[in-house]
Amino acid sequence: MDIKKYLEEKKWIIDSFLESYFSAPITPGKFRDCMVYSLTARGKRIRPILCLAAYEACGGKADDIVPYSSALEFIHTYSLIHDDLPAMDNDDLRRNKPTSHKVFGEGMAILAGDALLTEAFYVLSNNMPSTFRVPHSALLRVIREVAMAAGAHGMVGGQAQDLLSEGSEADAETLLFIHRHKTAAIITASVRTGGILANGSDDELQRFTRYGENIGLAFQVIDDILDVEGRTALIGKTVGADAKKRKMTYPRLYGIEKSREMAEELIHNAVESLSIFDKKAEPLREIAMYLLKRRS
Ligand code: IPE
Ligand code: IPE
Ligand code: MG
Ligand code: MG
Ligand code: MG
Repeated sequence: MDIKKYLEEKKWIIDSFLESYFSAPITPGKFRDCMVYSLTARGKRIRPILCLAAYEACGGKADDIVPYSSALEFIHTYSLIHDDLPAMDNDDLRRNKPTSHKVFGEGMAILAGDALLTEAFYVLSNNMPSTFRVPHSALLRVIREVAMAAGAHGMVGGQAQDLLSEGSEADAETLLFIHRHKTAAIITASVRTGGILANGSDDELQRFTRYGENIGLAFQVIDDILDVEGRTALIGKTVGADAKKRKMTYPRLYGIEKSREMAEELIHNAVESLSIFDKKAEPLREIAMYLLKRRS
C-alpha cells in the first residue's frame, strides 16, 4: 500500500474538520484567533490518524468517527501550546510558525490551551447526529481512557517529571517514565479509542495497547533524535532546544546510534503485536514503519 497517500488523505479529512470547527463567531475574537492559529497550523495529525486506522483495522469506516478522532488533536494542540510557554520549554517556533504566546501573549496562549482541552471532551461526549451512533457506554469508556491518558496519570504527569528532571543526571528509569507518560500515553489512547469505537474485542484492544505503547515511546525517542540532528525547516521547531535546557533525552543517555536501535526495536515490537489482524491493519503497520523514517 501507498502509506504516503494514505496519510495525506486522512490528514486532509482531519484538517477539514479542524478548519471548520470554530467557524461560528466566538467572543473575544482575538481569543478565537489564538485557538484557530495553533489548531490549523501544519501538524502531522498522527494521533487522529492512528485512531482512524485502528477503527478501520476492526472493520469500521473512517468517515464515521472524524469528530471523535479530531478531539485527540485538540488535546495534542493544547499540550504543544503549553509545552512551548516560557515557564515550560520556552520555545519560539512551532509547526514552522512563531509559538502561540509569541503572537498572542502568554495569557491568551494559556487560555487557548485550557479551552482546547475542555472542548475535546465536549466533542467526545456528543453522540453524532447521523445514521451512525456509538453506544453511550463506548463514549463513556473513551472519555475515561482519554482523560486518564491526558491528565496527572498520563501526559501531564510526564510533562511534570520532564520539567523536574531538567539539568539533572539522566537515568534510564526516569527517562522511560517521562517518555511513556508525556507522549506514549496519548498515542496509546488514540489507537485504543479507534478500537473501542469499533467495538473491538478485549484481545484486539490489548494488541492496540502494546502497539501504542511501543510506537508511542519510539515516537518520543525519534523526536529527541530529530532535536539533535533534524532540520529546523522540516521539524518546524528550533533544533538543539533539548541540549540547551539540559533535557533528559534518549540521545543524551544512550547516544544517537543506540537510541536509533532502540527505536527500531520498539517499532518491530509494535508491528509484531498486530499479528492477529488481517490486511485491514496494514495502515497501522505501515504507520509504525513510517515513524522510524520520519524527518518532520
Ligand atoms: C510533538 O508532536 C510533540 C511530541 C509529543 C513529540 P508531533 O511531532 O506529533 O507534532 P505535530 O503535531 O506534527 O506538530
Ligand atoms: C513534549 O515533548 C511532549 C508533549 C506532551 C507536548 P517535547 O517538549 O520534546 O516536544 P517538542 O519537541 O517541544 O515538540
Ligand atoms: Mg517539553
Ligand atoms: Mg518542547
Ligand atoms: Mg522534543
